[in-house]
Amino acid sequence: MKALEGIKILDFTHVQSGPTCTQLLGFFGADVIKVERPGVGDATRKQLVDVEGADSLYFTMLNHNKRSITLNTKTDSGKNVLEKLVKECDVMVENFAPGALDRMGFSWERIQELNPRIILASVKGFGPGPYEDCKVYENIAQCAGGSASTTGFRDGVPLVTGAQIGDSGTGLHLALGIVTALFQREKSGKGQKVLAPMQDGVLNLCRVKLRDQQRLDKGPLKEYSQFGEGHEFGDATPRAGNDSGGGQPGRILKCKGWETDPNAYTYFITQAAVWKNVCDVIGKPEWKEHEDFATPAARLPRLNEVFGAVEEWTKTKNKFDVMEICNPLNIPVGPILSMKEIAEEPSLRDTGTIVEVDHPERGKYLTVGCPIKLSDSPVEVERSPLLGEHTEEVLQQVLGYSSEDIDVMRTDGAI
Ligand code: COA
Repeated sequence: MKALEGIKILDFTHVQSGPTCTQLLGFFGADVIKVERPGVGDATRKQLVDVEGADSLYFTMLNHNKRSITLNTKTDSGKNVLEKLVKECDVMVENFAPGALDRMGFSWERIQELNPRIILASVKGFGPGPYEDCKVYENIAQCAGGSASTTGFRDGVPLVTGAQIGDSGTGLHLALGIVTALFQREKSGKGQKVLAPMQDGVLNLCRVKLRDQQRLDKGPLKEYSQFGEGHEFGDATPRAGNDSGGGQPGRILKCKGWETDPNAYTYFITQAAVWKNVCDVIGKPEWKEHEDFATPAARLPRLNEVFGAVEEWTKTKNKFDVMEICNPLNIPVGPILSMKEIAEEPSLRDTGTIVEVDHPERGKYLTVGCPIKLSDSPVEVERSPLLGEHTEEVLQQVLGYSSEDIDVMRTDGAI
């Protein structure tokens, strides 16, 4: 028994944001039917190709636990099939450019007419307003949602992050919206529209930066290194490098081997509660009682001096030794792990977070399994479907078409 067993998802998503959402629902046991254009499919199937002729890792890693059917929804019989799917499914998920679904003849009004219990879940770049008609990709969302202006170093250009907070982040927001709407439907008996705009999702993840924007009205942000460095603040939340920016100052510091290894670094947090342990471990016991260092407030203008001393110590240890030494002392630290190290980490394999999957076209590859663990809903990661692999199966078993009907649709170019 899986948490979402029995829930049918009409997965009309493509690229990354929508597919990450429906993949999660698939991990939780929903029957995810991915609808793709005949002969073409999701554009990511053929993007960033590393094995000629095979679906790319971009596609395979975002579309596990789904069935794929091909359908040209711009033909009459294709539209008929889509109507039947709308009637049959609990949720329809889409992330087309604004207006595409309406142009296809599937407005929210029409969808409700077909199935009043259905939940229509959409990712768009922006919510209602001046930019609602714009097409949006990951980095645009990071820029428009406040992430880029607050990421990077004070004296450098705005930076986008490696974490796909615009796409995968919004996919997560949408998934929560969907299960919440399913929960409400239990009581109301009705479906509803769920919208997750990428700008809003990124801003939600940048909530603390809007907090700092408002704190700035009351004076300088003392937790930011630039305060101690004597640089004036402007009128907007600045980029804070690797400062934690929260109540417990932290930074990325060099470890042994940093000269040649780009990831020989650790994150080190000087949590107030364990300050004395920090002083002992870095060989500065005199700072425990010194008026310039003994309290968090006294340390704030001196973060460069504090972290300079900590780094002198971390440079003598490798990043894993730092962890071994600091953890028993309750000092929060974390190694900067490369993707290679993560891919090879046995504990992540043990928990199913890194999974090896076998694929008929490309052979074995690694993927990220379900990052959310439910004790009563086990996840088996299934390989992504080939284009149209389940067209006949779904048309016959879910929608009741005969083989003759299917042959006609194939001749018409509808599937
Ligand atoms: N049969 C027939 N037509 C189909 C189809 C099918 N099975 N599936 C899609 N199409 C059509 C759509 O109806 C649309 O046609 P139209 O423009 O004539 O109305 C067309 O394919 C293209 O869809 P579109 O969404 O415009 O794709 P795009 O490649 O031009 O744009 C995005 C891609 C991602 C920029 C855009 O979809 C978007 O902004 N999405 C919302 C935000 C988002 O999710 N962005 C992140 C992506 S990771």
